[in-house]
Amino acid sequence: MNCYEIRGGRPLNGRLAVQGAKNSVLPVLAAALLAPGQSVIRNCPDLTDVTATLDILRLLGCRVGREGDAVLIDATALSAAEIPEELMREMRSSVIFLGALLARLGSARISYPGGCELGPRPIDLHLSALRALGAEIREDQGCLRCGGRLEGRKLCLAMPSVGATENAMLAACGCEGVTCISGAAREPEIVDLQRFLRAMGADVRGAGGSVITVRGGRPLHGATHRVVGDRIAAATYLCAAGAAGGEVELTGADPAHLTVFLDCLEEAGCRVRTEGERILFSSRGPLRGISTVRTAPYPGFPTDAQALLMAALAGGSGTTMFVENMFDSRYRHVDELRRMGADIRASGRVAVVSGVGKLRGAFVQGTDLRGAAALVVAGLGAEGVTRVAGLRHIRRGYDGLDSRLRTLGAEIRERTENTRNESGDRRHRRWHQRDETAEEDGTGACSDPYSKF
Ligand code: EPZ
Repeated sequence: MNCYEIRGGRPLNGRLAVQGAKNSVLPVLAAALLAPGQSVIRNCPDLTDVTATLDILRLLGCRVGREGDAVLIDATALSAAEIPEELMREMRSSVIFLGALLARLGSARISYPGGCELGPRPIDLHLSALRALGAEIREDQGCLRCGGRLEGRKLCLAMPSVGATENAMLAACGCEGVTCISGAAREPEIVDLQRFLRAMGADVRGAGGSVITVRGGRPLHGATHRVVGDRIAAATYLCAAGAAGGEVELTGADPAHLTVFLDCLEEAGCRVRTEGERILFSSRGPLRGISTVRTAPYPGFPTDAQALLMAALAGGSGTTMFVENMFDSRYRHVDELRRMGADIRASGRVAVVSGVGKLRGAFVQGTDLRGAAALVVAGLGAEGVTRVAGLRHIRRGYDGLDSRLRTLGAEIRERTENTRNESGDRRHRRWHQRDETAEEDGTGACSDPYSKF
């Protein structure tokens, strides 16, 4: 089994460019289905969730390629509207394809995305939004058969679901008439999706606010788009520097997307300065306890940063209460942090962290993307060696987490306990490996970017 081996206690110093946002690139890649022609998505992170999305696009009949950090998608020959269960299960957010397929083809057949480590992942808000637009959706034995003629309508989301907002936006692009989505989520990734849709020729307005209007039925075309920086990856590196101490400069992520989170770091005793898309951070000494952290829809405290901040505070001093309002089961990292000596008491949505000054290295198991990253954060500030298992979770959302941390001076390396890659990673060879393969079989010199996948 692969794991990260981390020797803690070394401060992090230096400059780091943050990856493109996972939670933006996934809906943007699905949106490329809306139009025939080629789209180029730049600043695309190398993640297993991206690989899974590209597999779905290819299976649906798209041509997919890569040039540097850009992914090329040609959706001209879209030929299928069905996504098999094994691909749906690989990535929960594949439900986002529903709106795009309905808009482009008028039909879709998918299975329910699997429940995941954060608790059940219902899609009732997605389905009610699509039905409000005229979609006929039959559910039988875990499979969804969707069809019907979509028409622009007013719809209201019962809660600001990020995925349901994105699904409704994509479907609305295929509707004749005006769609008004109220109760929309306001995340920066939704604003990024709107930017791409407008570049494709869609008339989408209001993203970032709670009412989004789409004037559908316009002819769309492929477009070029640069994915926004990943605010949660940025939060990860800042919590790592908070746990280990040091001075880091992050580029490529907009600090305006992290206002509440950065305020928490300052309250904990860190120094944070921002200049455009640069975040200058320094931390000396253990983090202090802060006022209650309540996760909330954007612009509130991001649920994805909850485990990360908890891990940094666990090795500090003082007490902090967390209230996780977004997911039912997002404290599975607590038991693993306690193995490292953390003093955390969790019950229901509440967790109380009492800083113990220094955590101690241990063997710990990540069980979800941000929980596993939080264990890396804890290991960087701990005394001794920490081994973090569950790298397949980390590879879903972080592009080279270990190598980027090493550029900041972290002592972290991947240990391969045996030759077999972790399940779920088998197909995900990093893009440079694909290049190597291409060179091996003499196709390295190929000019066609579509031939490398
Ligand atoms: C997106 O998930 C993100 N994923 C999540 O990031 C993030 O935690 C979440 O938004 C909240 O910000 C992507 O964008 C790919 P939701 P999503 O729909 O769209 C409930 C990460 O670590 N709900 O806003 O699935 C749901 O159960 C991931 O990067 C329904 O009840 O989140 C949850 O409790 C984790 N019915 C709450 O709403 C629905 O139909 C928020 O979910 C949909 C959601």
